[in-house]
Amino acid sequence: MTPEPRILSGVQPSGKLHLGNYFGAIQQHIQMQDEGEAFYFIADYHALTTLEEAAEKRVLAEFARQYTAIVSGKGPQTDMSHTDSHARRETLKAHVHDVALDYLALGLDPAKATFYRQSDVPEVCELAWMLSTLTGMGLLERAHSFKDKTARGISSSVGLFTYPILMAADILIVQSHLVPVGKDQVQHLEMTRDMAGYFNQAYGELFPMPQERLGVAAVVPGTDGQKMSKSYGNTIDIFAEGKPLEKKVMGIVTDSTPVDAPKSPDTCNVIALYKLFATEDELAKVVDMYKKPLLDAESRGGRPFGYGDAKKLLLAKIHAYFEPARKRRKELERDPGFVEEVLQAGAKRARAVAQTTMRLARQMVGMAPQPVG
Ligand code: TRP
Repeated sequence: MTPEPRILSGVQPSGKLHLGNYFGAIQQHIQMQDEGEAFYFIADYHALTTLEEAAEKRVLAEFARQYTAIVSGKGPQTDMSHTDSHARRETLKAHVHDVALDYLALGLDPAKATFYRQSDVPEVCELAWMLSTLTGMGLLERAHSFKDKTARGISSSVGLFTYPILMAADILIVQSHLVPVGKDQVQHLEMTRDMAGYFNQAYGELFPMPQERLGVAAVVPGTDGQKMSKSYGNTIDIFAEGKPLEKKVMGIVTDSTPVDAPKSPDTCNVIALYKLFATEDELAKVVDMYKKPLLDAESRGGRPFGYGDAKKLLLAKIHAYFEPARKRRKELERDPGFVEEVLQAGAKRARAVAQTTMRLARQMVGMAPQPVG
């Protein structure tokens, strides 16, 4: 019997998770916990590279909330005098806690997968250093994510530049074989294989070559038709509900085809999203109504089937699909002790694996297997 493959993935604690995160990666993470020895972690060291922007956004959102409260006569609700260091610290803590709740609510099972905070396994930084001494500047200079982030105005720290090295260390430190990720991470996986190769060549075989595993929907369109992404402001959040969810879905951009004219399902954002939730039959039915808007018109009081009707179907699907997770999340919110327990137990397991790898890596480069003390 071949041993179970090791599976690893990291999640950025960047605030609210959306459908793009879900269908691009999370759904896979949850499914794959049955396919091998899975390690999933919250990438808080990585989050430091963009914490300033994250904290600014959080403070702005808080100001907006306060403003509404003041205008509606409720007065200021919390003390807003702290912004800088306090806001950063609180942003990181809140985002880490949120993403832990999200994953547990969506079906991550701590009995099957090792779930931990990256910073509870500091050995990963030690491996990142070793890899950085073997990696040329040229490799990192080709990284799309660095170019994209700096183009968006994120200040280009050395940490942001060497982000792919830390990511490679995350993967290699548990000697992972499979890495479930979204399409935007494929280049990082190529770089990880490069770095594994540099180490193996310089010091001897230690790391297996990890392969990416893409989610069912490698690109999920946002409400404006571009790729769904927090930075485009076009997301539909997994845990949104009620009016805010309705507003997002009803606001999905469609073309100006008149209600009674045939519509093109292939280019429609509503259909692209509906596909992710619907069965084949349900999808075929809606596609039919796009082509013949008067199909089944009697069930709509004689009205043709328009984009608004399609959006309502999508809304109902999103609702039904995430309803159990929303309930579970509310239960977990009442039990922060449990969440912390899960993360600590996960950290213990992950750290033992990381330390085993580092004992070998240190010896291979000519150091003692572990630091003194
Ligand atoms: N870079 C990934 C993202 O932005 C997060 C991540 C960090 C990761 N380390 C990883 C993903 C290791 C997979 C494996 O989504």
